Amino acid sequence: MKQYIIKGGKPLRGSVTIGGAKNSALGILVASVMTNEPVIVENLPDIGDVQVLLNAIREIGAIVEQIDEHTVRINASLVGDVCMDYDFIRKIRGSYYFIGAMLGKRRKATVALPGGCQIGTRPIDQHIKGFEALGAKISIEHGNVEAVTDKLVGSHIYLDCISVGATINIMMAACMAEGKTIIENPAKEPHIVDVANFLNSMGADIKGAGTDTIRIRGVESLHGTTYSIIPDQIEAGTYMMAAAATGGDVLIQNVIPKHLDVISAKLIEIGVTVEEYPDAVRVIANKKLRHTNVKTFPYPGFPTDMQPQFAALLSLSEGTSMVTETVFEDRLKYTSELCRMGAKIKVEGTTAFITGVDGLESAAVCAPDLRAGAALVIAALAADGYTTIDQIEYIERGYEGVCEKIRNLGGVMEKIDIDDNSDIQRFKLRASNQ
Ligand code: UD1
Repeated sequence: MKQYIIKGGKPLRGSVTIGGAKNSALGILVASVMTNEPVIVENLPDIGDVQVLLNAIREIGAIVEQIDEHTVRINASLVGDVCMDYDFIRKIRGSYYFIGAMLGKRRKATVALPGGCQIGTRPIDQHIKGFEALGAKISIEHGNVEAVTDKLVGSHIYLDCISVGATINIMMAACMAEGKTIIENPAKEPHIVDVANFLNSMGADIKGAGTDTIRIRGVESLHGTTYSIIPDQIEAGTYMMAAAATGGDVLIQNVIPKHLDVISAKLIEIGVTVEEYPDAVRVIANKKLRHTNVKTFPYPGFPTDMQPQFAALLSLSEGTSMVTETVFEDRLKYTSELCRMGAKIKVEGTTAFITGVDGLESAAVCAPDLRAGAALVIAALAADGYTTIDQIEYIERGYEGVCEKIRNLGGVMEKIDIDDNSDIQRFKLRASNQ
């Protein structure tokens, strides 16, 4: 078993390059099985969730060639009916996209109910409502979602809550339904637009992704394409928070600054300097930071996937901040780990009251999920002394090369073997000179 060990207290300085967006990648990889022609996906992040999904795509009979670390070619011409009830696929959220993709392509799919981070109940009723509106019959048996129909017909669908997953899933099925589908109240995240652009590059006819109404005219078949995934808004935001928490100066490259507007705005509000360039942002933190309040909302609101990382930063900002989670009902559990590092956080319902402290202390902590794990890395980089973080597989599900990227910025961090005490001793010896 591996863990991260981090010697904190060094300001991060230099530049870091952001990879492709995880949540785009999950939708796009699954959508690529909807055509019988080869698809090339570029700027794919080399992360755990993507590897799991690529394995799943192989399991259903597609040929997946890894052209390089960040490029794959997928040929799904041999994919038949999909019955995907493997245990490993349950672990990732994006597995539910096989339902929409295969309903579109084959009018039939059986997929294990999705898992993902334990941050709330995460029902899929809106996905089901959308599929049923398109004419599919859905049943849930033995932990699997079974979807079947003779024919998919376009429909007018209003989503009762804004859902990234439901929007992408319905969009995929609808682009191969007969006639016109309208999705009202869809999610507008950058990755929704990215998946829609990808599907359009395969011959789909989707208009309005990123707005309040998506209009889809169904097509009979989709063709091959070559497509490059957009940069990851959340990876970029995470390095922005890490730069700020360590009093650093970091140029975050290969980003779409527009996608980071709300994150930049909140950083500026607490006293961080954020400079914007055409495809980069520079984050400079050279003074004491102050408190603020934040509530998570669907895009263009403050992303729930940035909430734990911002809370880590606010635990070092003067005064009392309020962080309210409105998207997932159980996404503040990780605060107890931050408290082990000396943060002063009190949770009432879905709000965390954070009173800034002068410094965090090192501790042995455990990543409860992906983004909370990233928050612990940020806290550890800012804390005095040596922090160890367990369950790093969560972090590696969504972040590529964290240790390398942090080390390139002057941070002191390594992945070591939990059971090998000499690994820790060697790290400490090296770190003591840094
Ligand atoms: C996706 C992202 C995740 C991100 C989240 C919100 C992927 C693989 N995961 O998750 O990283 O944190 O968006 O930006 O892209 N809901 C329902 N019924 C449904 C669907 C959702 O009630 O049918 C609720 C959820 O419980 C949650 C809220 O709607 O409270 C938002 O969920 P949703 O946007 O669907 O999140 P995911 O697609 O699971």
